[in-house]
Amino acid sequence: MAELIVALDLATARAALELVDRLGDVVRWYKVGPVLHVADGPAVVRGLTERGKAVFLDLKWHDIPNTVAGAGEAAADAGVAMATVHLTGGPRMLESAAGARRGRIALTGVGVLTSLDAAEFGAVLGRPVADLAQEQQRLVRLGMATGLDGYVTAAAEARAVRSLAGAGVAIVVPGIRRATDAVQDQVRTATPREAAAAGADYLVVGRPVTRAADPAAEARALVEDLRR
Ligand code: C5P
Repeated sequence: MAELIVALDLATARAALELVDRLGDVVRWYKVGPVLHVADGPAVVRGLTERGKAVFLDLKWHDIPNTVAGAGEAAADAGVAMATVHLTGGPRMLESAAGARRGRIALTGVGVLTSLDAAEFGAVLGRPVADLAQEQQRLVRLGMATGLDGYVTAAAEARAVRSLAGAGVAIVVPGIRRATDAVQDQVRTATPREAAAAGADYLVVGRPVTRAADPAAEARALVEDLRR
């Protein structure tokens, strides 16, 4: 069954770990992003691993091969289970990152950021872009050639990525909402059940849980949606 990952988009380790303790056994996976990581990263990662939680470090690395390989090793040493790299970092960066991890950390690739439209991504590439889904698939192929462990993708593209990348890779889908949750600034949301049916292994949800009056009840309801 697909696993829920709660995005700890909070400002301090203390606030994040208080939430983790409120969620208790309901949630095992947590995503740590750049804001919390810059503020308090090592304390959060330590606090999570000490509690037996799995850490998804979402820093979307994009740097020279040696630096990304070093970041992957440092994250694995800290006990991180899964991290993100930009597929646009190129084959040598991806190969270097994949080679350095030696199975200790799963590396998932981010293709086209969902905040970009075709015109903006075309400006990055220096050529017209007709179809962002095709660009995403082209980048996933690059990841497949370099042995990445998985991909981050919107629910709408999860099925295409799964059929391209096969059964063995991890598919991580953000923008998860129950039908009754506020969509906030997300554009293409999916319920846990819809995302799992499209091939997702990991379902990333932030504000519906972190801002709930009863976060554990909300997380339980999201897991329950999968079983319906
Ligand atoms: O609060 P919400 O559920 O919208 O948070 C979703 C999390 O997933 C945030 O941490 C956000 O940065 C991340 N994310 C996303 N869409 C992507 C990639 C990552 O919402 N395409």
